[in-house]
Amino acid sequence: MTETRREQFQALRGMRDILPPESARRRALTAQFIAQCESADYHEVVPPLVEDLGVFLRVGEATDVVTKEMYDFVDKDQTRIALRPEMTAGVVRAFVQHRPLLPWKVFYAGTNFRHERPQKGRYRMFDQFGIEALGVDDADLDVEVIALASRFFESIGLRQVTLLINSLGEHEDRERYTEAVRQYLLSRRDDLSEASQVTLERNPLRVLDSKRAEDRQIIRDAPLVADYLSAESAAHYARVLSGLDAIGVSYTEDPRLVRGLDYYRRTTFEFAAEALDSAQNAIGGGGRYDGLAEAMGGPATDGIGFALGVDRILLACDAEGVFTPESAGLEVFVIDTVSGEAARDITHQLRAAGISADRRFGGGSMKSQMKSADRSGARFALIVGEDELAVDEVTLRPMLGRPADGEQRRVGRSDLLGELNRYCGQIDPTNPRTIS
Ligand code: HAM
Repeated sequence: MTETRREQFQALRGMRDILPPESARRRALTAQFIAQCESADYHEVVPPLVEDLGVFLRVGEATDVVTKEMYDFVDKDQTRIALRPEMTAGVVRAFVQHRPLLPWKVFYAGTNFRHERPQKGRYRMFDQFGIEALGVDDADLDVEVIALASRFFESIGLRQVTLLINSLGEHEDRERYTEAVRQYLLSRRDDLSEASQVTLERNPLRVLDSKRAEDRQIIRDAPLVADYLSAESAAHYARVLSGLDAIGVSYTEDPRLVRGLDYYRRTTFEFAAEALDSAQNAIGGGGRYDGLAEAMGGPATDGIGFALGVDRILLACDAEGVFTPESAGLEVFVIDTVSGEAARDITHQLRAAGISADRRFGGGSMKSQMKSADRSGARFALIVGEDELAVDEVTLRPMLGRPADGEQRRVGRSDLLGELNRYCGQIDPTNPRTIS
C-alpha cells in the first residue's frame, strides 16, 4: 500500500484568519464607525477590490506602497491590474467616473493588500475604514473630518491616542519644501543611514519619516515646512487648528509629518496609539489631496479624507483593555434527551420566530448537553426529556441568574413562543454579556 502524504496548508505570510469571537468584535467596530459616519451625513461607497494599475500609480510613483508593495499582475485579458493597497485612489476614480453632486461625502470599509514585511500590526492583507469628502475647500471641512476620526476613537474607549497634524502647503509650496529638504539632506548624505540614502534619491520627504537612530539628529535639523507655506496655505492651516481648538479636539503639531503617500496637499494628520510599539502605532491617517481628481482625468476638485487601520485599532484596544462589546448572545439552547426530534423541531420553530437558538447534535446525556448549553452562553436552556415529552411540555431553565428571567418552570409546547417572546430579543443592558 502506498502512503500519500497530504500537504497541510497555512494562510499565506502576512495574511490571517479572523476567527470567532474576534470576527464579531471587528464587525461591531465597523458598525460603530458606520454609525458615526451616517450621523455626519457620510454614505457608503463600495469600490472594486481591483483596479487598473494606473489608478494606483496616481497614489505616487515615488512611494513604497506603489513601487515595492503592490500586488499587481497581468490578468487573463492581458490587462495590468492590481489589488488595492488603499481605498482613496479607487474612490476618487469612482468620483471622476460618476461625477456625483458636490459635496460628495462617503465612507468605506474594506480589505487592502500591501506586500510589506509582516510583523505584529503590519500585515499584507489588512482592513481599513475611512471617509472621503470631495468638492469643498473650506478648512471647516478639515475640522469635521478630523473630528469624526477623533470622536470615533473616543467612542470606542481609546484614551491614549495622539492626533499629529501638519500642513504640507499647496503643490508649489510642497515642491519648494521638497527641494529644500533634498538640498539639506544631500549636504548630510554621508551621515544618513544606508536606507535613507536610497530613499533620498526617490523621495526626499520620506526620509523625514525614518525612525533610524543615525538619521534622527539630521532630521531634527531639517528645514521646516512652516517656513515654506504660502500665505493662503498658512491661513487655511491656522483656521483648521483654531477649529479643532473651538470644538475641543486636542492635537500635537508635528512639522515632520509627511505621510507615506504622495497625493497629500495642505492638511495632513495621523493618529498614534501611545499604547502600541512606536514602529507600528499609526492607527490612522489622512489629509487633503486636492490634485488627485485631476490626476485621474477629472475636473479639479478639492478632497480630504482619512483611513483607519482596523487591525491596529483592535491591537490598541487590547493594549488599553477597552472595546469588549456586548454580544447579543444566544437566547435558547435546546436539550433533547429523547430522540432529537423535539430539538430539531423546536430550534426550527424558534429561529423562524426570530429567537436565536441552537442545540447539540448526536444526543448525549443530560449532563453533557447541559455543559454544551453552558458553553453556548445561552440565556435559557430548554429541556425536553421523557417526562416533558409525555405531556407535551418543555422545561425552561434560566441560565444567567438574572432575576428578571424567573425560576425554572414547565411550559406547554403551544405556549412556548409567547413565554419566550416576553424575555428574548433584547439584551438586558444591566447585565451585558461580553465577548472575551
Ligand atoms: P495610510 O497611512 O497608508 O493611509 O493607511 C491608513 C492606516 O491603515 C494606517 O494608519 C494603518 O493603521 C493602516 N495600515 C496601513 N498599512 C497597514 C498594514 N500593512 N497592516 C495593517 N494596517 C495597515 C491611507 O491608506 C490613505 N488612503 C488614507 C487617506 C484617506 N488619505 C486621504 N483619504
